[in-house]
Amino acid sequence: MAKVTVIGAGNVGATVGNVLAHKDIVKEVVLLDIAGDVAKGKALDSWQQAPIDYYSTALKGTDDYKDTANSDVVVITAGIPRKPGMSRDDLIGTNAKIVKSVTESILQYSKDPIIIVVSNPLDVMTYAAFKAAGLPSNKVFGMAGILDTARYRAFLATELNVSPKDIQAVLMGGHGDTMVPLPRYTTVGGIPVTEMIDDATLTAIVDRTKVGGGELVKLMGTSAWYAPGAAAAQMVEAIVKDENRIFPCCVQLNGEYGLNDIFLGVPVKLGKNGIEEVIELKLNADEMALLNESAGHVREVMNVYDNMNL
Ligand code: NAI
Ligand code: 2OP
Repeated sequence: MAKVTVIGAGNVGATVGNVLAHKDIVKEVVLLDIAGDVAKGKALDSWQQAPIDYYSTALKGTDDYKDTANSDVVVITAGIPRKPGMSRDDLIGTNAKIVKSVTESILQYSKDPIIIVVSNPLDVMTYAAFKAAGLPSNKVFGMAGILDTARYRAFLATELNVSPKDIQAVLMGGHGDTMVPLPRYTTVGGIPVTEMIDDATLTAIVDRTKVGGGELVKLMGTSAWYAPGAAAAQMVEAIVKDENRIFPCCVQLNGEYGLNDIFLGVPVKLGKNGIEEVIELKLNADEMALLNESAGHVREVMNVYDNMNL
């Protein structure tokens, strides 16, 4: 059974560990954080939940990378979250250095892990981890699309008064306000969503999805963690169970969608090797224009990262 390390035991990291433990699919979850004993406390708390909720996954908290040795999958959530009024891109000054240094530390003790990046600005932090890790691009990718798609699906479920289980959707692009939900690839129990909902309502839901993260920051004063943590745990599950699930993930594109040398959210097949395949949809001209606009925005922030010369 797999060993999973989560770097950063804050709101998202602790949730990833707790949700993973509840799935009971990995041998051990290591939570690592630099903030005092927070990781030790949260790991112990989650372990004490095991007799109540019936799981065997061991949880260990630490501030020492030696404890992460030989991890199969590492989830990076270290870094600061945004506060009201901030964009995800505003976090780059702090989080770029953190993501680079934690990636280097991980690689000292795990030679060939799969790395899932969660820290923001997500697309560019995935690029930063990829550069620092020196691993093939199928092994370093980011979580955002599952979360953004889940928000879209949840809004649709509320509007239509149906179970969120029955809503399937694809959402592409960067993890920011230029993300691209795709109504043409959205179904409700197999029925095209456009047959269930009028254009104006659907447009309002798409627009709300694009700023869905900001809506939560306004409500809570910090960013979300339940759905983000569950989304990252779902990615770990697909990998350790070699499920070949189809999810939107942030990956390096090498010619797909006419884009090169960029990290962007696209549908992929996720299995034991990480990204098993990038799926190329036949986007129409409007959808392609929105994807290119989103890619342009991500590229600007990648340039900011490159100019930091870390
Ligand atoms: P948080 O503040 O609750 O936790 C972050 C943790 O990282 C803290 O415990 C802190 O001590 C730790 N940390 C900082 N520097 C570290 C280092 N060098 N090594 C190890 N640990 C370190 O923040 P939260 O809410 O958990 O968010 C974490 C990150 O995830 C933020 O950047 C946030 O924007 C991002 N995020 C991304 C999402 C996505 O969809 N990709 C969704 C939600 C959050
Ligand atoms: C979110 O979308 C802040 O990226 C984080 O909730």
